[in-house]
Amino acid sequence: MTTPSYSLINNETGEKVDLPVVKGTLGPLGADVGKVYDKMDLFTYDPGFTSTCSTKSAITYIDGDKGILLYRGYPVDQLAKHSTFIEVAYLILHGELPSKVQLDSFEASIRRHTMINESLRRFFDGFNYDAHPMAMLTGIVGSLSAFYHDTTNNKDPKHREIFAHRMIAKIPTIAAAAYKKSFGQPFMYPKNNLDYCSNLLRMMFAVPAEEYEINPVAAKALDVLFILHADHEQNASTSTVRLAGSTGCNPYAAISSGIAALWGPAHGGANEAVLKMLEEIGDVKKVPDFMARAKDKNSGVRLMGFGHRVYKNFDPRATIIREQCHKVLKELKIDDPQLELAMKLEEIALSDDYFKERKLYPNVDFYSGIIYKALGIPVNMFTPMFAIARTVGWVAHWSEMTAEPGGVKIGRPRQVYTGSPVRDYAPIATR
Ligand code: ACO
Repeated sequence: MTTPSYSLINNETGEKVDLPVVKGTLGPLGADVGKVYDKMDLFTYDPGFTSTCSTKSAITYIDGDKGILLYRGYPVDQLAKHSTFIEVAYLILHGELPSKVQLDSFEASIRRHTMINESLRRFFDGFNYDAHPMAMLTGIVGSLSAFYHDTTNNKDPKHREIFAHRMIAKIPTIAAAAYKKSFGQPFMYPKNNLDYCSNLLRMMFAVPAEEYEINPVAAKALDVLFILHADHEQNASTSTVRLAGSTGCNPYAAISSGIAALWGPAHGGANEAVLKMLEEIGDVKKVPDFMARAKDKNSGVRLMGFGHRVYKNFDPRATIIREQCHKVLKELKIDDPQLELAMKLEEIALSDDYFKERKLYPNVDFYSGIIYKALGIPVNMFTPMFAIARTVGWVAHWSEMTAEPGGVKIGRPRQVYTGSPVRDYAPIATR
């Protein structure tokens, strides 16, 4: 099949600019508008980037109409069923599933890098007792850039690899420390004979005074959730990491900016917002009233965990998480009325014209909070959990961008200026 060609035409003058086509392996073609301004004195305008690609990438593919999510070509449901978070992390970073030797070596390296500098640990003392863990995560991860001057030659693949391993290994330690700080318990050092999620659970829930037994159901549930959250192509936080990273800044600082972007309720903060919403509704009887408010634009209320910029059919991660939610609650013998409430909300929304017309379906975060809650993870730690998993994606995108032959082009969007035309300064006495 021949590749179609595209042009931009000035209907007034007939002036025409041909747009070179950028072709990927799957999905729509890209029309390269990079020369439009030069040739036509015209900007392209797309706030929210609904039709705009900021980059090429070989990491993750999403087909929002068909509900497809692939990491390096592998369907996410197959990975969630058969793989582990650490293997998926290797896949996302390196592009291929590892051999046994490669996996063992990768996992050993991640386990070796789990500790954080003792000075960094003391940074937590500077936070107020009621600091949100995401605030601490943003600050502490940014501060990592003050500790690793030895590996900041972004052009050196070995330096990039050490950064990747450090970041993925340390983020659970930092998140767990933020949790412990929030209620005054002593920090728990990592225990490197444990797998990634078991180690995290121990750092969060163990205390030095007692033995702690890891619940394998909880560790496995966390592992699956982390696989589902590991990457999602050019989402807001990943784009933030890329934009910050495109300046050549320290990679830890770039990841910190991604954490800040993830925090918002329109993005990773939605999992926390879902649980707060379920708490606020409280009872199945109050669902109709809440739904009416969610549909009323003036109320400022949205059905949290519903809708997605890309998925306009269903979010494949939500389907897996819903199944996981039932499984985990059953295995842990938990009867949570909030699951019933969530299912009722979903049922009503899916048959409601407002949601149907706008193609709003449950997203990854609609059920994840109920699982986190079942694992004993408090609501303000939901988004840090997301951040731990998404660190893999952020690191992979930063590495992909930084390794580009010819170097990174700084990300620098333009604007349509709507301010005052040029005017002369007026002395204060005349104003
Ligand atoms: N509840 C009620 N109405 C909604 C919702 C919702 N959750 N989401 C979108 N709408 C409505 C909007 O009001 C709008 O209606 P209109 O066309 O009559 O004006 C229409 O659906 C389109 O919504 P937009 O905000 O334009 O869609 P956009 O693609 O920009 O936003 C987003 C996507 C941010 C995810 C949105 O659906 C939302 O706010 N959802 C709730 C928050 C949430 O769950 N975020 C997590 C996303 S997944 C993630 O980041 C991991």
